[in-house]
Amino acid sequence: MKLEHIIDNNQSLAELELIWKTTKKIENLYYFEERGRKWLKEILKGKRIICLFNQPSTRTRLKFSFAGKVLGADVDVIDQISSTSIEKGEDWYNTLRTFSEKEINILTIRHPQNYIPRYLATLCKKYKFRVKIINGGDGNHLHPTQAIGDLYTIKEHFKERFGKDPLKIAIGADPKNARTLHSLVILLAKFPVQLTIISWPELRMPRKYLQGFINQNKKIREIGGFPQGEKFDVIYWVRYQIEYEQKRNYQKEYNQKFKITPELLDTFLEKDGIFLHPGPRTEEVDTRIDSDPRVKDGEQMRNGDFTTMALYTLMLNPVRIPKPSEL
Ligand code: CP
Repeated sequence: MKLEHIIDNNQSLAELELIWKTTKKIENLYYFEERGRKWLKEILKGKRIICLFNQPSTRTRLKFSFAGKVLGADVDVIDQISSTSIEKGEDWYNTLRTFSEKEINILTIRHPQNYIPRYLATLCKKYKFRVKIINGGDGNHLHPTQAIGDLYTIKEHFKERFGKDPLKIAIGADPKNARTLHSLVILLAKFPVQLTIISWPELRMPRKYLQGFINQNKKIREIGGFPQGEKFDVIYWVRYQIEYEQKRNYQKEYNQKFKITPELLDTFLEKDGIFLHPGPRTEEVDTRIDSDPRVKDGEQMRNGDFTTMALYTLMLNPVRIPKPSEL
């Protein structure tokens, strides 16, 4: 199976299984002596990836570029669209045509405008450009590769429980604007979970992202704070997305009301549960929680590197990946 553009989270269960299996195999080789990494470096030899970032990023930019380099691709990072010829009036059609003629295989893009990656993928299909598009976050819409990595982290942690025994998952606290939460709930709807969304009514998650839950008559609980006497398997938290709510700036109140502290985790997170955060972390997280082994956002970041390697592989060269013992 070869994957096409990654612009949303409409991946089927079979595709997710394949992405995760490929991730595991790549991870096993990466951590297996020098021979493993040498083998991986052949997968995208001669392929070209451009990472175009028109919004700030630390993790995603590093992830897209690191994943490509591990697999042997040539990776270019363009930090601002204003440094391309789009600034001189070139449109997306001509920009993509240029990338296609120059044999760019993948364009990863982060953009403040919703649906730009979808528009680019449509142009590529219409004009048969060879470039494949990956959405690295579009406005306050989606962040598909983040969610694929996040769900891999959840699946790896809960192993045999995942997909069978419904996990109790609490997400918050800006479901209105956090694209990571939108992508995550679209994927979570495909699995047995009990979802609790914690936020203010003003920051309610738009219904379109919950359609998977709604279509299956799966219950979603939306409340204003952690419910007394309950514990969760996963707490997934985000910062206040100030860039999308400048007129109604609740940041200070948000960081007080929804701050994640060691006391909060002790009260509401199961002993074998995990705390995840896609980053960037700001004042909504008390850094004292970092000594708690249940805080897994570091693992979450590293997993994102490997799920991205799996996506690149399945998009460009879906070869059979050997076990370390076969090298
Ligand atoms: N998770 C995430 O998108 O982080 P960055 O904005 O740092 O890329």
